Amino acid sequence: MEKGQQLYEGKAKKVYATEDPQLLIVSYKDDATAFNGVKRGTIAGKGVINNRMSNALMQMLEKKGVPTHFVRELSERETLVKKVSIVPLEVIIRNISAGSFAKNYGVEEGIVFDEPTIEFSYKNDALGDPLINEYHARALKLATAEEIETIKRYAFRINDELKAFWLSCGVTLVDFKLEFGRLEDGTIVLADEISPDTSRLWDSATGMKLDKDRFRRDLGGVEDAYQEVMKRLNERMQAL
Ligand code: TMP
Repeated sequence: MEKGQQLYEGKAKKVYATEDPQLLIVSYKDDATAFNGVKRGTIAGKGVINNRMSNALMQMLEKKGVPTHFVRELSERETLVKKVSIVPLEVIIRNISAGSFAKNYGVEEGIVFDEPTIEFSYKNDALGDPLINEYHARALKLATAEEIETIKRYAFRINDELKAFWLSCGVTLVDFKLEFGRLEDGTIVLADEISPDTSRLWDSATGMKLDKDRFRRDLGGVEDAYQEVMKRLNERMQAL
């Protein structure tokens, strides 16, 4: 599949047209941003890791009955995906307090919840991705009530699968962000990526952060952390 015209460049990926109007090519960059683009940098090798990790996890989720945009990995940084219209909601699932949850509600990081939480942000950089609830999402016509129900059902199922998978790698899945899209016929599928950019992953034994918080918080060892989680995922995938 040949790369056509570049359609879009985001903070971490570029998107290209293909000869098939229903298919796109995403290309993962090493660029990293945080705090709505205020902090900028690069994480060497991140694009390769996020591409491969996202593809491995999406293929696993497909097998478990969660439809995704994934079609085929084309190279270490490029993947063929189904064209979707993105539902402008960032869907965040949390198993343990961290990040904005800890900050907003005045609690420490590391509190294990009895059940996962879900929240939505309106995907809008100009507004800084504000938190919204389902009523707001429907009022803004970002998604229908039925679509929101489908998204919630998939998000919790994805959490169950990812939590179990990461646990088997010695990694605790603290929280993560998902994005969903609509195919031409309206079917909701998982889109975007699942990676250390969009998840909090803590070493289960030591609690060491193995994700983008190392970049956000200037903790050092960013590249090593990405390599480490990728290595654990690969070892586990080979054993499966
Ligand atoms: P938060 O605690 O900062 O709200 O982040 C929750 C999760 O969402 C965390 O795993 C990181 C991820 N995330 C993104 O993927 N993109 C973003 O823009 C933000 C703010 C968080």
